[in-house]
Amino acid sequence: MTTSPPMSSRRRLLLLLLLAVLAAASAEPVEDKAALLSFITQTRHLNRVQWNSSASACTWTGVTCDPSSTAVVSLRLPAVGLVGPIPPATLGRLRSLRVLSLRSNALSGPVPSDFSNLTLLYSLYLQNNLLSGPFPPGLAGLTRLSHLDLAGNNFSGSLPFSVNNLTRLSTLNLERNSFSGPIPSINIGTLKELNVSYNNLNGSIPETLSSFPQSSFAGNLQLCGAPLPPCPPFFPSPSPSPSAPTEPPPPAGPASNKKKKKLSTAAIVGIVVGAFLLISLIILLCICLLLARERKRKDGRPSTKPGPTPPPAVRSTDTGMTSSSKEELSGVVEAERNRLNFVGGGGGYSFDLEDLLRASAEVLGKGSFGTSYKAVLEEGTTVVVKRLKDVAVSKREFEVQMEELGRIDHRNLLPLRAYYYSKDEKLLVFDYLPAGSLSSVLHGSRGSGRAQLDWDNRMRIALAVGRGLSHLHNSARTVHGNVKASNVLLRPDLDSAALSDYALGPLFSFASAPSNRTAGYRAPEVVETRRPTLKSDVYSFGVLLLELLTGKTPDQALLGDEGIDLPRWVQSVVREEWTAEVFDSELMQYPNIEEEMVQLLQIAMACVATMPDSRPEVSEAVKMMEEIVNRAASESEGVGGASSDDPSKGGTSGGRTRPPPPPPAASSTP
Ligand SMILES: *[C@@H]1O[C@H](CO)[C@@H](O)[C@H](O)[C@H]1NC(C)=O
Ligand SMILES: *[C@@H]1O[C@H](CO)[C@@H](O)[C@H](O)[C@H]1NC(C)=O
Ligand SMILES: *[C@@H]1O[C@H](CO)[C@@H](O)[C@H](O)[C@H]1NC(C)=O
Ligand SMILES: *[C@@H]1O[C@H](CO)[C@@H](O)[C@H](O)[C@H]1NC(C)=O
Ligand SMILES: *[C@@H]1O[C@H](CO)[C@@H](O)[C@H](O)[C@H]1NC(C)=O
Ligand SMILES: *[C@@H]1O[C@H](CO)[C@@H](O)[C@H](O)[C@H]1NC(C)=O
Repeated sequence: MTTSPPMSSRRRLLLLLLLAVLAAASAEPVEDKAALLSFITQTRHLNRVQWNSSASACTWTGVTCDPSSTAVVSLRLPAVGLVGPIPPATLGRLRSLRVLSLRSNALSGPVPSDFSNLTLLYSLYLQNNLLSGPFPPGLAGLTRLSHLDLAGNNFSGSLPFSVNNLTRLSTLNLERNSFSGPIPSINIGTLKELNVSYNNLNGSIPETLSSFPQSSFAGNLQLCGAPLPPCPPFFPSPSPSPSAPTEPPPPAGPASNKKKKKLSTAAIVGIVVGAFLLISLIILLCICLLLARERKRKDGRPSTKPGPTPPPAVRSTDTGMTSSSKEELSGVVEAERNRLNFVGGGGGYSFDLEDLLRASAEVLGKGSFGTSYKAVLEEGTTVVVKRLKDVAVSKREFEVQMEELGRIDHRNLLPLRAYYYSKDEKLLVFDYLPAGSLSSVLHGSRGSGRAQLDWDNRMRIALAVGRGLSHLHNSARTVHGNVKASNVLLRPDLDSAALSDYALGPLFSFASAPSNRTAGYRAPEVVETRRPTLKSDVYSFGVLLLELLTGKTPDQALLGDEGIDLPRWVQSVVREEWTAEVFDSELMQYPNIEEEMVQLLQIAMACVATMPDSRPEVSEAVKMMEEIVNRAASESEGVGGASSDDPSKGGTSGGRTRPPPPPPAASSTP
């Protein structure tokens, strides 16, 4: 088994699969073995690490070698009861190490300075030990680090500015230590996760970090500034009593004064508020007058649009599928005086049909059940209005169905907010999610500035969809009937991506229900029965997973000359030999994920089984996916199967962010 450096991605994958079998190779990383033995003999432990010194180090628990067994590339000893300091000149000698996990032990003392020699290190997990001392200075030289977790130790001192040297860092967890002083201005573009909560940090949070959530900074009593409450205005804080920890004071200021003072303060506040209100009122009046005049002037012209002018931002084409046909909505529904029925709390909206009709509308897309509009109400609220066509049920049935839908409450299911039924018009109102659909993000013009969906994000979306669908199936006992990428709406937090357009099938007659828009996702049996089932949802979900993995749309006619569908295309590629060419070329640039991709592929293939009975329940699929993620996150510690990544690279480099090693041959169809 030789490792010529420019291996094709196919060979790398093969290698990966063989690796598990061939782990016990004959060669031996002599120097690394000595270092490991030296480490384990000098470190007290609970005998859970039983390394047989006459066997190859590559067979030891927690140790992974490169394919040629000449170097140790990962060492994972989580929760094995290691006690005491990390002896110097042991682990620091494992120069090819990519992953080091010693988390959840009882290691104490400082991190040895020779860790600075682990220059290929990609992930370092030392959380939940008793380590102390300053932020380990040697770490700032480990420029390939992507995951650094020192949480839950006893580190102290200030956070060095040289953290910025770690330009590839994606997670930095420093919570639950005793770090003090201000947070340096950390400006690392790749940083996705930061946690410095529960330390003794003070001062204002640098602007570069203000987009992280509050919980990243919680528990530092003297931190202030976004996302925490603003810092007190810039004057020397008197720090009245040392007993009162200066919590980030609310804008009103520390009100620790006596009664007399309070009274006069209240008076002042009253006057100020009164004056402010008065001025606001005058300004408002002026604006109204101006607007009225403006409108009059416009009415003189050949007007493009009756009614109030919509806010200019409305016309932004954010989903890439608008064909701006405004006013269509209001034109038709006019004169209908029926009521809008809010369901399930209505999402806090308060508008009526009138408002909806006055809203400026823009076509978002035409789906199987009707046309969706983005409607911007006058007070600035934006909602999606779905106008159903060919509804085949009575008003009573419609209402019952809608009330039922309104009760469904799950963060991965787009909630129905309101509905409207009249003889000629049936409307549904949903939240508007500006981030667009999975379909537009995944297939929107590639290359041209479009944010790529990396593996983690695809996995998060897949899980979100699975959880939503699972809730629908198991808690609401409802068939979705229309699972497809354009019905997966994204939120900034991808874990909250939401399925839309569910359970509408029963409103329509069989003949009209599954239009050819869902073609690529439709289970074989549904083509005949036209009746979606729980199992046909699973099939569609499987197609969606394949779509995430391959980056191909299911109805892409390009998939072979006779236009075979996505599952069959994947089957045909995979049957011949396990090959990396099924995967999206965009994914091939992340080198650590093949094992996870193969596992997800297996789940997807199970979901698209031809026989409905051989498909898993969606909850089972979700469980298997969660296991993939957990394996990657806890056992492999968020590196995404690093056990496989590093060997595949022949020990020459590390880091997911590096440019693709082989030219991605994946997009060429066989
Ligand atoms: C250690 O490994 C050698 C060679 O593989 C084997 O003969 C021996 O039985 C092992 N010892 C223990 C305690 O497992
Ligand atoms: C790093 O390795 C070099 C070469 O083996 C060695 O001379 C040096 O002392 C090591 N650095 C530390 C901090 O131990
Ligand atoms: C960080 O990078 C700067 C510039 O590249 C360098 O001068 C400095 O020594 C580095 N700091 C550490 C701790 O490696
Ligand atoms: C943490 O470190 C401080 C000194 O920096 C020491 O006083 C304290 O006992 C340590 N706490 C633990 C739990 O080791
Ligand atoms: C932060 O705390 C240190 C002492 O730990 C103090 O010297 C410094 O002035 C404080 N900085 C701010 C901005 O409060
Ligand atoms: C940060 O860590 C704290 C304590 O472990 C946790 O409660 C919080 O959710 C974490 N925040 C983020 C953003 O990970």
